Amino acid sequence: MCGIVGILGATPAVPRILESLARLEYRGYDSAGIATVEGGTLDRRRAPGKLSELRAVIDAHPLSGNNGIGHTRWATHGEPTEANAHPHMTGRVAIVHNGIIENFRPLKEELLTKGVTFEGETDTEVVARLLTAYLDEGMPPRAAFQKTLSRLVGAFALCVLIKGEDDLMFGAREGSPLVVGFGDGENYLGSDAMALASLSNKLIYLEEGDWAELTHTSVQVFDADGTPVDRLTTISQVAATMVDKGNHRHFMQKEIFEQPTVVAQALGRYLDPVAGKVRLPEMPFELATVPKVTLVACGTSYYAALVARYWIEKLARVPVEVDIASEFRYREPVYMDGGLAIFISQSGETADTLAALRHAKAAGQRVATIVNVMGSTMAREADVVLPIHAGAEIGVASTKAFTCQLSVLAALAVDLAAAKGQIDAAQEAAFVEELETAPKLMARVLAHDDAIQEIARAIAPARDVLFVGRGIHFPIAMEGALKLKEISYIHAEGYAAGELKHGPIALIDENVPVIGIAPNDELIDKTVSNLQEIMARQGKVILLSDNAESEAEGMFARLEMPSAGELVTPILYAIPVQLLAYYAAVEKGTDVDQPRNLAKSVTVE
Ligand code: F6R
Repeated sequence: MCGIVGILGATPAVPRILESLARLEYRGYDSAGIATVEGGTLDRRRAPGKLSELRAVIDAHPLSGNNGIGHTRWATHGEPTEANAHPHMTGRVAIVHNGIIENFRPLKEELLTKGVTFEGETDTEVVARLLTAYLDEGMPPRAAFQKTLSRLVGAFALCVLIKGEDDLMFGAREGSPLVVGFGDGENYLGSDAMALASLSNKLIYLEEGDWAELTHTSVQVFDADGTPVDRLTTISQVAATMVDKGNHRHFMQKEIFEQPTVVAQALGRYLDPVAGKVRLPEMPFELATVPKVTLVACGTSYYAALVARYWIEKLARVPVEVDIASEFRYREPVYMDGGLAIFISQSGETADTLAALRHAKAAGQRVATIVNVMGSTMAREADVVLPIHAGAEIGVASTKAFTCQLSVLAALAVDLAAAKGQIDAAQEAAFVEELETAPKLMARVLAHDDAIQEIARAIAPARDVLFVGRGIHFPIAMEGALKLKEISYIHAEGYAAGELKHGPIALIDENVPVIGIAPNDELIDKTVSNLQEIMARQGKVILLSDNAESEAEGMFARLEMPSAGELVTPILYAIPVQLLAYYAAVEKGTDVDQPRNLAKSVTVE
């Protein structure tokens, strides 16, 4: 993962790099560092921990120079210490890196036998030492950089400064994203448009294998063979203003409360309420001809895919296969001719999901992606892009992206059902009308904020929490457990309610809160009897339901939910489980927006 930025500038680089790194902290926050080159000096400051630690180091020991590179790290090789923090420097070069150099061990061996010494344990230092070795052999910078790249195996984005070369910066992309930005007498490199938002909106997205040589006034892009290439210049829509928390204590809280607005925004792009129709973007194939849908994603996006399977199979009667991206391509999936493979990702950069997308594309599948970040690699590589329009999601725990993904998937399910002739125009119009009710009902759920906070206080001391649901709400149970785990560090699991008696019920005692997700659908009676089984074993049941009748003696707490149809209930029930996790984390005093060990964009496999 990690975020990188580089500036060949006309004014001091360090404050500008710090600002860019603040936008990139979502990619990792184990350590941060900056190096500058000027007047024959290459210098750096690094600090383990969050960017604030680096700021403190720089305040105490200022770093000058108009040209610099910066990095925020999510640790892969080596602990998050200062020694392992980027930039990595030798006497001649400074490098920041996002990704993994898979062959760093043999390269290191080779350099060690030549007498090269190493300071740390990272794969990145090997790149710095290799480049230095080629420069020491007398190669000019461009040739030395190109030769270095030719030796590297893995997924990486690199940004490089060379001592004595104040008007030169190299960048390379192989598997991890890198963007070139154009300024006035300045040029930039960054992990994404967000990194460069305060510097430039005129960008080139480097393609796989590309590398670039920048001066203050020129940019030359080369492909993997070293042939100069022209890449499309785009104008980024990413706003230069730093996304802020508004009146909220955390980005996650703000993003949870934004959901009625962003879901309305997302639905607005896909529904035509006047015609009573779903309007998807133009597709290069007829949906009606799709024999099978494959949905692939990671984490929260995977749970959105699981919900969509119920919708698509029930409404469109098309078989759906769902898989976790990191497993998908290794099990040799069986594709069907003309099959539609959909890759769901907030960031559009998740390495496993991207690799799965490429696998499906190479196998001749029709490839669509449901993403939040337009301009991301998945959005650029898919045949069809269905944006979720959630706006920038900063909290590491995904919230509004999930409900927007569900909204788009619901629209897709209805459209596919219509294309397949499984529903008629009146039924399509009824589904559109139902989906249109989602934002208003979501606002009603959010109004229960205080009650949810109270329940969260009660579950915060627990060591284990279970979430149970049936059918379309089983994935919501898993999503609730994931949210709680990742930000409150409470162990939690999501189970299909009917499955508890096959083993997990052994975990139940008076210390285990169980969140029961039980909307008033055809499965409610079964779910409630499973909750009774839990209460009979002293489990503390917290019921989320719109069925007043379902109240059973001895329940620990109950949250009254609004009633809705099957396309909307998973969207509604996502909210209380998000808020429970949020308030449990606040109660425990964890770092809600930047939980330990995590990063928002997971660009390593
Ligand atoms: C959980 C969470 C992660 C992501 C997962 C996939 O709150 O945010 O589980 O959902 O890393 O990320 P994207 O959707 O960017 O591919």
